[in-house]
Amino acid sequence: MIQSYISRFLSTSISSLKKITPEKLKTKPKSASSQQWLSRQLSDPYVEKAKTMQLRCRSAFKLIEIDDRYKILSPGDIVVDCGAAPGSWTQVAVKRVNADGKMEGDPKGKVVAIDKQHVYPIEGAKIFGNMDFTAPSSQQALLEHLQGEQVHAVISDMAPKASGVRDLDNENMVKLCYSALRFAVQITRTEGVLLMKMWQCGETKQLESDMSRFYDNVRLVKPKSSRADSTEIFLLGRGFKGLERK
Ligand SMILES: C[S@@+](CC[C@H](N)C(=O)[O-])C[C@H]1O[C@@H](n2cnc3c(N)ncnc32)[C@H](O)[C@@H]1O
Repeated sequence: MIQSYISRFLSTSISSLKKITPEKLKTKPKSASSQQWLSRQLSDPYVEKAKTMQLRCRSAFKLIEIDDRYKILSPGDIVVDCGAAPGSWTQVAVKRVNADGKMEGDPKGKVVAIDKQHVYPIEGAKIFGNMDFTAPSSQQALLEHLQGEQVHAVISDMAPKASGVRDLDNENMVKLCYSALRFAVQITRTEGVLLMKMWQCGETKQLESDMSRFYDNVRLVKPKSSRADSTEIFLLGRGFKGLERK
């Protein structure tokens, strides 16, 4: 009985194996766009550098460049990182504010990160994964975690999933930025910073001007590590005026 079961099992397994032909084993041809993406990744020095430095993605260098130039993060700072997955900005922020306490003698900061997607743990960061930043309940969770503490910096690298319809994508990007701005003005301490990703589009000027109502110094920044052929730009607001002085 067992014997016949085994031989039946083997023969069905073997017959299904027979169906796998060499043609079927050949890898699926890649589309032009995925081939383009692959060759760009392979020839991108930042991708290699990120791997060497154990950073989760090349985006890290945008924050590194901006912080090296404008000194927005210091040991002891409290930072909220919006749109954090896979986590390279969080990794950089943790180091720069000493949230992991590894720079002995320096004050220990705090990094709170949020993303719609899952984010694997990062030592020194409190992560809110699988949460939509724009949802009031998510912002409430962040506020509860901060327990009334005001932050030094809100950084946002959030970008909507591309739909392929440019106007719709731009509109979604603008919504994310205003959501980050509204949240930042509620929780940032005077003189604090807001850094957020935006795309160069018809609404960029308006957003810049709206930010200027709350921050003394607002500028558009394009780090070298941001691909030249991308419309990505970063809005950096420094010197938060505080709500009363507005
Ligand atoms: C360019 S990636 C961020 C990369 C990240 N800064 C890093 O260095 O690893 C943009 C992220 O924004 C997130 N995102 C977009 N809309 C969001 C939303 N409403 N709430 C939270 N995260 C969002 C996406 O899930 C995506 O992970």
